[in-house]
Amino acid sequence: MIKVLFAAGWPRWKQYKHALSMAMAKAGLEAELSQSHGPEETDYIVYAPNRRFSDFAPYKRAKAVLSLWAGVEDIVTNETLTQPLARMVDSGMTEGMVEYVTGHVLRHHLGMDAHIVNPGHDWIAKPPPLARSRPVTVLGLGELGAACARSLAALNFPVTGWSRSKKRLRGIRCLAGLEGLDAALSEAEILVLLLPLTTGTEGLLDAQRLAQLPNGAVVINPGRGQLIDDNALLAALDSGQIGHATLDVFREEPLPEDHPFWAHPSVTVTPHIASETRAETAAQVIAENIRRSEAGEPLLHLVDRKAGY
Ligand code: GLV
Repeated sequence: MIKVLFAAGWPRWKQYKHALSMAMAKAGLEAELSQSHGPEETDYIVYAPNRRFSDFAPYKRAKAVLSLWAGVEDIVTNETLTQPLARMVDSGMTEGMVEYVTGHVLRHHLGMDAHIVNPGHDWIAKPPPLARSRPVTVLGLGELGAACARSLAALNFPVTGWSRSKKRLRGIRCLAGLEGLDAALSEAEILVLLLPLTTGTEGLLDAQRLAQLPNGAVVINPGRGQLIDDNALLAALDSGQIGHATLDVFREEPLPEDHPFWAHPSVTVTPHIASETRAETAAQVIAENIRRSEAGEPLLHLVDRKAGY
């Protein structure tokens, strides 16, 4: 009997309990899932950021920690974590992210806010350009960034994708490295941030890089709040260098009540809902990883502890 400790909080337990048992059975695994297995009996830990769980050291028997989150920055530096760590790549989350990103890109591209006419407002018929003349850049070409880049390209946006190491994606101009970043930013009328948070990406979008974007560019951040220098972004919004920012993630969440993003007329705040792991599809990924581990096969989506993701 494989003992799986669910260390991802009570509300998620309600969502995952059934989905995980089904997925484990389907993978042919006999497992006992619980929120309270002790360290000496736990074979696998299913984890999501959770204030009550930060010490992995006693879990010497555990063969892997399986994250329900795509972003693992909060545990990747945890020194008590010596077990292999897998991040979540979930088709449900990817689908949700594609919908959020294309929706918000289209909002800005089409000027939806300005084009909805209300009684008493001017009847200004100035149609937006076609997508083919609106360059969009996606920073980060992992599972989520690549899927969003493809969907935007399918809508005819000229898409540039940027990543740390060079990628190849059909129909996307792929750039890499710091030299590539300058070119990726200089034409981006809409910029989408889907990078993992690492020491190399923290504060990446600072005053200098915001200034490299075309005047009036839109920033959409469903990645991580720490990718952006908040004060630099506010200054760029005030000067008009950045026309609008749609932000789903923040340095502190929930976004503190007195944060200037709330009141800024050119900022749209969404409460970290761009996309989340979906129990049904994510449970299958967890079960497949446990099956692999039991069969001595390599884990899917293993985190490179040095790279940080
Ligand atoms: C959510 O933000 C995640 O990393 O899965």
